[in-house]
Amino acid sequence: MVDDKIMPFEQLDKAYLDRGLYFGDGVYEVLRSYDGRIFALEEHLRRFANSLAAIEITGVDIADIRPRVTGIFEKAGIANAKIYFHVTRGSEPRYHKGGKDLKPNFLLTICGLPDDTKAKTNGIIVSTYPDLRWKRCDIKSLNLLPNIMAVRDAAKKGCDEAILVDDKGFITEGSGSAFFAVRSGELCVSPLAANILPSITRGFVLRAAGDIGMKVVEKQFTTQQAIAADELLIGVTTRDVVPVVKFDGHIIGDGKPGKYTNALACEFRKFTK
Ligand code: PDD
Repeated sequence: MVDDKIMPFEQLDKAYLDRGLYFGDGVYEVLRSYDGRIFALEEHLRRFANSLAAIEITGVDIADIRPRVTGIFEKAGIANAKIYFHVTRGSEPRYHKGGKDLKPNFLLTICGLPDDTKAKTNGIIVSTYPDLRWKRCDIKSLNLLPNIMAVRDAAKKGCDEAILVDDKGFITEGSGSAFFAVRSGELCVSPLAANILPSITRGFVLRAAGDIGMKVVEKQFTTQQAIAADELLIGVTTRDVVPVVKFDGHIIGDGKPGKYTNALACEFRKFTK
């Protein structure tokens, strides 16, 4: 039955039987273009291949995904686009283990992505939330319920992003972004491990830091250390580099985007040109 309509399984659209829907059994990517050119396509495809391999979805060739992404991008003609795609293990009547003959499903959406100028200029406000996620956050899986709970909690508090805090009091990352602090001119960020996503933006921000001579410290830090930081910032494909000016009600620095964040954002833009 779909809503009130009764029908046999065979007549159901395969979208209703997608394992992504029942189990979050799939992986995804989000990438973007700037002025008519897709940014960091190979980096996103590499991460996607890692995610597929980690959950053992087979029969998907990255060499087939690439032209699908570039083809639809060219057709859509959107200069500044957000491209989302996912692969799920396939469709069948709900069965945990999954049948042998499953054929992976591919879905892609593309839409315009306006520049987040206001957030970049004024900075954003964030709040913390317990990191309730599983132990393989390095896989970009469709299971995002804890992330959704976190960002909804932030929104209720009038905040733009939730910063996730693990059981030991260390910050892992944002609900949908990488998170950084600047202390005495050094850029601090959680090290890449199974508890965070290997963010593509994170990688470029670290490169930008190197290019402007900023030391990078890849070490976990606490909420108290974040509050005491000179500057805070997030990084994510859909927004680039965004300054954070308030953290759990505490004003960071002088409450305005800091000079290091602005320098990193400026350097980051060079990659996207
Ligand atoms: N999210 N951490 C988490 C948990 C994320 O979901 C994301 C991105 C990032 C930043 O990764 P990247 O720099 O590769 O975009 C970090 C995407 C945009 C999303 O789920 O829509």
